[in-house]
Amino acid sequence: MMHHVSMRSNPKSRKTALAAWTTWMSWRFSVRSTTSGSSSGPDSLHRTQELSSDSCEKPPHTPVMLKEVLHYLDIHPGQVVLDMTFGGGGHTKEILNTIPEVTVLALDRDPAAFSLAQRLAEQHSGRLQPLLGRFSELEALLLKMKIKLGGVDAVLLDAGCSSMQMDQSERGFSLSMDGPLDMRMDGERYPNMPCAADVVNALDQQALASILTTYGEERHARKIASAIVEARSVYPITRTQQLASVVAGSFPAAAIYARKDKLQRPSHVATKTFQALRIFVNDELNELHAGLCAAQAFLRPGGRLCVLTFHSLEDRLVKRFLKGDDLSTLHQRRFPRRKRGEVGEEVEDRKKDGQNVHWIPLRRKVIVPQMEDVKENPRGRSAKLRAALRC
Ligand SMILES: C[S@@+](CC[C@H](N)C(=O)[O-])C[C@H]1O[C@@H](n2cnc3c(N)ncnc32)[C@H](O)[C@@H]1O
Repeated sequence: MMHHVSMRSNPKSRKTALAAWTTWMSWRFSVRSTTSGSSSGPDSLHRTQELSSDSCEKPPHTPVMLKEVLHYLDIHPGQVVLDMTFGGGGHTKEILNTIPEVTVLALDRDPAAFSLAQRLAEQHSGRLQPLLGRFSELEALLLKMKIKLGGVDAVLLDAGCSSMQMDQSERGFSLSMDGPLDMRMDGERYPNMPCAADVVNALDQQALASILTTYGEERHARKIASAIVEARSVYPITRTQQLASVVAGSFPAAAIYARKDKLQRPSHVATKTFQALRIFVNDELNELHAGLCAAQAFLRPGGRLCVLTFHSLEDRLVKRFLKGDDLSTLHQRRFPRRKRGEVGEEVEDRKKDGQNVHWIPLRRKVIVPQMEDVKENPRGRSAKLRAALRC
């Protein structure tokens, strides 16, 4: 009954909420849903296996900046490599197929990716060791396997989510396909962890706006949060396309595709909302920080790290971590501008200043994909690669 009271108190908002609800309902009945049911259980693993079982099929995820990653990791025969984000296994497969006698420890928090890694491990007797868990659980997992601190030669962290996750509508990551509003990368492991629907239906307007601002860098966060609160007072928001309609409903029709992505293609006005919810639901930035700390602990001196990121929040965090900034005090101080000159000189200067130096960048500038690679794999268009050597 609560929602009727709030709707009666504000006829304008009632109109907006009803408009969003009507769009959503008419969409539901006019378009055949691509999927139904929930993401949990062995079903989703089965679908992932189907996706990859035929070697003639498109790989479940096209690895981003493969040449560049292999170049900067500079892996030698017999070395131990840690792939912290196995995903569809694109980077790992290339490492196993091109460098003799390497051992790859392959982590992923998603049980579907872990199951793919287990299948690949069967073809590479002992050279691939799959690990199921989050970056924040990695230290315990590696110590349990008797991997010592400083015992790894190269680490790859390819942040964000995989095409396997994005393309399965029942995982709820994609705004272009209808599915349950889930977005959890490891909901199967932690079924009680809140999903995106829990977030949009439970948090108050201010908290929602703050999530959209912080994790989506969304300029219209307050307007969108208000539309969500009004819409859910009529009907809980449980589907991806329903949320996309609610967000779209708070903008004039001409604005819905007015934003452009990096390739100047029209981008839906709810894209940043989806990004923000995904980051929040999976605690991605804290996880990324935990992953970088684990890489720092397990890489040997002289070992190499490659980190691929896909939006500015991630890249900023990686850049500052590699510089040795204390990330817990980021908001309290302004960082001095980088000095001109050689990277090596700069590291020496910082050591003289008594700063903790754990990393030497292998390239001063961030590395971005080649245009032809972006054309072939547009999902990699916003990738940024940072490569560094452990001191
Ligand atoms: C971009 S995909 C990796 C793709 C992979 N490099 C390939 O070539 O197929 C990112 C993967 O990292 C996993 N992931 C994201 N955050 C994680 C975390 N905190 N701990 C472990 N795995 C994580 C996701 O589940 C996803 O499978």
